[in-house]
Amino acid sequence: MRICCIGAGYVGGPTMTVIARKCPDIRVDVVDVNRERIAAWNSDSLPVFEPGLDELVKEVRGKNLFFTADVEYSVEKADIVFISVNTPTKTYGYGAGSASDLSFVESCARSIARASKDGKIVVEKSTMPVRTAEVIKTILESSGYKFHVLSNPEFLAEGTAVRDLENPDRVLIGGDDATEEGRAAIETLASIYARWVPREKIIKTNLWSSELSKLTANAFLAQRISSINAISALCEATGADVDQVAAAVGSDSRIGSKFLKSSVGYGGSCFQKDLLNLIYLCEHFNLPKVADYWRAVVDMNAFQKRRFSADIVERMFKNISGKRIAIFGFAFKENTNDTRESPAIDICRDLLSECARLAFYDPKVSDGQILSDLGLSEGDGRVEFCKSPYEAAENSHAIVLLTHWDEFRKLDYEKIRKTMQTPAWIFDGRNCLDHRLLAEIGFLVRGIGKGNLA
Ligand code: UDX
Ligand code: ADP
Repeated sequence: MRICCIGAGYVGGPTMTVIARKCPDIRVDVVDVNRERIAAWNSDSLPVFEPGLDELVKEVRGKNLFFTADVEYSVEKADIVFISVNTPTKTYGYGAGSASDLSFVESCARSIARASKDGKIVVEKSTMPVRTAEVIKTILESSGYKFHVLSNPEFLAEGTAVRDLENPDRVLIGGDDATEEGRAAIETLASIYARWVPREKIIKTNLWSSELSKLTANAFLAQRISSINAISALCEATGADVDQVAAAVGSDSRIGSKFLKSSVGYGGSCFQKDLLNLIYLCEHFNLPKVADYWRAVVDMNAFQKRRFSADIVERMFKNISGKRIAIFGFAFKENTNDTRESPAIDICRDLLSECARLAFYDPKVSDGQILSDLGLSEGDGRVEFCKSPYEAAENSHAIVLLTHWDEFRKLDYEKIRKTMQTPAWIFDGRNCLDHRLLAEIGFLVRGIGKGNLA
């Protein structure tokens, strides 16, 4: 059997590496139109940072895992083709700002139709709007061959991708479960995962349930964060501590303790896009009340980011003009180099619009990526890129912590404070530092939902 995955990104790369590792008898080709990305996957410096991924890639690359830009050849040879391309929010025309831009998916479907000399199983791996499988099938079958389109959404989270892929909570496969052929296609894919995932964790549904389940899972997760972030604002107003509230509330087994970490807001390529997509679907199906319900989750996230940057300005005497501020972390979460929808982008833009000078340190995000996210050019005097958090903090008036990188918890803050301007502020956007200790050292400390501080 041969597998081809179109799209060598944060999902396609790690997912196919794990499939290749678990199925040594299956040849897996990962293809992409972006030749630089393919070259990076074939080098020692992978385009995606994920703990444990480098080692895995080294184990299987060149054996049964291949990265190539020759899309059509790999598609032609494959029995199963995964579509794992980006589906960003549409920025133009009908549905701009909420619908998904399906141009990459359509272009994949056309490539598959062009390259195929027989029928294949085509798997939607990227999160798609409900009923996209129908569009893909129509394009594929214009080739004259019979295709089976399956929905197999990926639930991995960045930063823990390898662990999530090796030991998933569930694998979801949606297909045409009303016909024998359709059920056989579902089983072909299920039997690949069954090599390392217990059968009871492989859930089979119809296509539309599978597509909608992915959107719903992300919407529920994002909703939990917006819920606890809404409470964080109330904690600040009342003197409560949001982490204590989350621990007390999360200990109810019906609620559960995960995903209740109040923060500067969620980021990442999925939550915002999928919520907007869900809202668009609700509006499309004339369910405005349902759309409004989910829109509130998005609005709360924007409010949380804005609230945080406004608090920084307010606390620093309503004036950060010309002040150096150290930015600790730019990735949307720890253990990834991905900055898509990172809350750091909006917060840093707010600080720059108040004429602050920003000194960045992130262990994995490149300087060029930060410049591009902030729409700045190289050599812009308002920003500086530092090799260590110590260098970023030197002469700064404040440290603004935006990503929960473990190393930030282990720094010598006593040493750092001595090199900073006074008063020295710390704005902990992830509540990951020891606030009491920092206050003892002499910092003015602000956390999220900490009504009891500064
Ligand atoms: C998410 C889903 O978890 C995953 O199942 C889906 O496949 C893709 O989208 P990802 O975006 O990679 O994964 O990371 P996730 O761990 O969900 O974090 C998303 C954002 O929420 C990050 O910015 C993170 O910092 C934030 N977050 C997460 C919180 O602010 N509080 C929490 O309690 C958890
Ligand atoms: P994700 O996080 O969903 O993996 P990425 O943006 O990291 O998203 O990766 C998607 C990849 O898909 C990109 O590298 C992009 O170049 C690739 N891609 C998009 N459209 C096509 C296409 N028609 N053919 C091949 N590759 C494509």
